[in-house]
Amino acid sequence: MSKNKIALIGGGNIGGILAVLSAQREFGDIAIVDIFDGVAAGKALDIMQSNAADGINTKLSGTTDYSNIDGADVVIVTAGFPRKEGMSRDDLLQKNAEVVRIVGKNIKERAPDAFVIVVTNPLDIMVGIMQDATGFAQSKVVGMAGILDGSRFKTFLAEKLNVAVSDIQSFVLGGHGDSMVPLPRYTTIAGIPLQHFIDKGKISEAELDAIIVRTRKGGGEIISLMKTSAYFAPAASALKMAKAYLNDERSILPCAAYLKGEYGVKGLYVGVPAMIGKNGVEEIMELDLNADEKSEFEASIKSVTDLMEAARKLSL
Ligand code: NAI
Ligand code: 2OP
Repeated sequence: MSKNKIALIGGGNIGGILAVLSAQREFGDIAIVDIFDGVAAGKALDIMQSNAADGINTKLSGTTDYSNIDGADVVIVTAGFPRKEGMSRDDLLQKNAEVVRIVGKNIKERAPDAFVIVVTNPLDIMVGIMQDATGFAQSKVVGMAGILDGSRFKTFLAEKLNVAVSDIQSFVLGGHGDSMVPLPRYTTIAGIPLQHFIDKGKISEAELDAIIVRTRKGGGEIISLMKTSAYFAPAASALKMAKAYLNDERSILPCAAYLKGEYGVKGLYVGVPAMIGKNGVEEIMELDLNADEKSEFEASIKSVTDLMEAARKLSL
């Protein structure tokens, strides 16, 4: 059986961690491409040498040249610019739209059968631009945000409840912005609904609301601390999606997936629970939302739609 090939477009903070984690998990050979001369080659070499110390046999290569990604099975795109303090995800629109268009054209030419995971912000818009640039089936192009947002929600809940974070299951819907919709009603701890913990006084409604607000602003919190955006959790989250595809897991993960009428939304990428298997997005799971959840979801869709309109006016 031939080895999987994972291409990483962008070898910066997230790309570098993606390369280390993919190597350690032995998902396949790793090809990094970055426009900044030497970055991809240097990181590939450094990680190969750390693999030698660890006894890991994964091969890595890094270049500025897209021929490096020929025939890749999965392409994870982090190329572009991160958000700095004071910048919204949306300020990145023009710069990163140009980058994603160029990257998409190269993926189309070099890795026509790949499953493409977009990480570059503003996420929901960049994944749409990527799908358009590659012309790939919508099921083969997805965006990573919900796993990261959900991980933040789980981390804060686990801390407050003093439980194992691995016991928490949850979903965050909507766009990857401050209007995202964490769903306490679809949150369980070892299968026990979160409501049980509220009823037992382990967490108050006010504390839960504060956690929801902190989750929505989770990206900004890290930026204000590190002066650049998060990279460990985004890399781990994107790899979870790659693994679900490569191993045909049929895992249900919150992803920015293309909606064709689900949740009443047509022709837009937005965060929803999606089943990922060997065909990419195999099914969108439609959750029943109550009136409050619905109105929050609609507000989130509106913010994605507004930004999409702004993106359509860009000269690319
Ligand atoms: P970074 O600046 O460390 O790395 C980006 C890399 O892209 C740089 O090495 C740069 O040289 C490269 N690059 C720029 N233009 C390129 C091109 N045309 N072709 C190939 N490479 C190119 O940034 P970082 O921290 O890795 O973040 C990457 C992106 O991910 C940012 O847009 C950031 O906002 C976004 N992000 C998204 C998250 C999500 O949940 N979807 C979470 C965190 C960050
Ligand atoms: C994050 O959520 C800024 O989108 C980036 O960490």
